[in-house]
Amino acid sequence: MRILVTGGASGIGAAVCRHLDGIGWTAVPADLHAPEGGLALDTRDEAAWESALDAAGPLDGLVNCAGIRSRSGITELDLADFQKMLDVHVIGTFLGIRGMARRWSAQGRTGAVVNIASVVATHAVAGQIHYVAAKGAIAAMTRAAAVELAPVGARVNAIAPGIIRTPMTADRLTDPDQTAWLMSRVPAGRPGEPEEIATAVAFLLSDAASYVNGALLPVDGGWMAS
Ligand SMILES: NC(=O)c1ccc[n+]([C@@H]2O[C@H](COP(=O)([O-])OP(=O)(O)OC[C@H]3O[C@@H](n4cnc5c(N)ncnc54)[C@H](O)[C@@H]3O)[C@@H](O)[C@H]2O)c1
Repeated sequence: MRILVTGGASGIGAAVCRHLDGIGWTAVPADLHAPEGGLALDTRDEAAWESALDAAGPLDGLVNCAGIRSRSGITELDLADFQKMLDVHVIGTFLGIRGMARRWSAQGRTGAVVNIASVVATHAVAGQIHYVAAKGAIAAMTRAAAVELAPVGARVNAIAPGIIRTPMTADRLTDPDQTAWLMSRVPAGRPGEPEEIATAVAFLLSDAASYVNGALLPVDGGWMAS
């Protein structure tokens, strides 16, 4: 199985690549700066997506994991920051799904897509309206793409990570007040590790999930259940 993983240079994406390589698949990481053995890709850039998908060769799957996070109250949030959040996550995920589906159609192949959403896709938090909007849209696009591509045998699912220990969350998980607030949301009482997302990604990509389509799978220590 050959899988393109955006955001593959860091955090969850890097853990996904390690895990897929570890189970004998081939992960092709793609990130803003080409990781070792990988590709350069800015998910906001349509032409860059075309180049990356062509360079990756025939693929069995795509993991849309690239992402950014920032905090701002609604009254302070710049339009440019809102737009960038949507471009990286929403436009990026759309361009990936579209490019992948076009190639599977042309090549007579099919496969699976896993989009990395977030618990905030359904459970809003204050100070992140742009991130909440982007992740909600990823969850909605996952359902739309799953419904549309199911007849050609493709599956499109999403994962909703809770709070996972990566460079993106290092500031929050080293701040005692932030950590206490976050842990009050997590019945498991601890952050997740990137490898705990990677194993769920591998499941959704694999034939073990052959009848799972359009799902938003929480991997969150129970956050969304509470
Ligand atoms: N860490 C968490 O707690 C958590 C929780 C829920 C969802 N997520 C999501 O998981 C994904 C991975 O996050 P992470 O925690 O591993 O963060 P991270 O910062 O460690 O990794 C994000 C990666 O995405 C890349 N990236 C950013 N913008 C890009 C762009 N325009 N094009 C290509 N690559 C780009 C970065 O260079 C980086 O390598 C993100 O979509 C994030 O929103 C993370």
